[in-house]
Amino acid sequence: MDWHKRYQQQAGWTRNLRDYLFVQANIATARRILEVGCGTGAILRAVESPATLYGIDIDSHALAQCRVNSANAILARGDGLFLPYANASFDIVFCHYFLLWVGDPLQAVREMKRVTRPGGHILALAEPDYLSRTDAPQELTRLGAQQTEALRQQGADPGFGARLAETFFEAGIRIEETGPIQRIEKEMSAAEFELEWAVIESDLAGMVEEAEIQKMKLQDQAARQRNERILHVPTHFAWGRV
Ligand SMILES: C[S@@+](CC[C@H](N)C(=O)[O-])C[C@H]1O[C@@H](n2cnc3c(N)ncnc32)[C@H](O)[C@@H]1O
Repeated sequence: MDWHKRYQQQAGWTRNLRDYLFVQANIATARRILEVGCGTGAILRAVESPATLYGIDIDSHALAQCRVNSANAILARGDGLFLPYANASFDIVFCHYFLLWVGDPLQAVREMKRVTRPGGHILALAEPDYLSRTDAPQELTRLGAQQTEALRQQGADPGFGARLAETFFEAGIRIEETGPIQRIEKEMSAAEFELEWAVIESDLAGMVEEAEIQKMKLQDQAARQRNERILHVPTHFAWGRV
């Protein structure tokens, strides 16, 4: 599974929102910007700013790719729950599809707040709520349930997106704007369909029989041809200030 490809696809889904929020966060005058959980650099590489960019991630393989994709960023391997940066040292601290993975998202958000300067901005750009996922037609609802369970088994909190705003509030961050991301569902290209199924196959491997996975893939393809397929995962953002 090529995870960078997947992260780039997700980056496409949030592009308009990111552009808007970075302007709100005064990106043009920021001097230091940090992404926590930067992964392979799908987002960091697309940040357009004269600021010095920093990224941190716990996974050394992802960071090695990030070094290539976002060559100018200053990268560190470390845990988002204990950031190795001084208090109040960044103008903008952001994350993207990150907090659902950390086990203790409140502690992660508190750390993001600690390293942001007074008046600075904290952006959680995309946190999904798989517990509110919609699948249609009916025969594909089991796919949603299985993928949600697979995420849980991988250590994610699949419903975290619904608790994002309250987590900011609990961390003492003044919320400026929050809500679900608007995403216009477009017809999937053949390449996007294959990428979606590469993710599903990777998620369900060892949990669901291969024959059953292939059966659902055919059901998905047929439903798309009939224009009856719905796959919607509400995904939330939050923008706050210190
Ligand atoms: C779904 S990926 C998102 C990567 C990137 N933000 C993006 O959207 O392209 C989540 C990333 O969080 C990292 N991660 C998970 N737990 C972490 C932790 N406690 N501290 C730092 N990074 C962590 C993973 O290694 C992974 O690279």
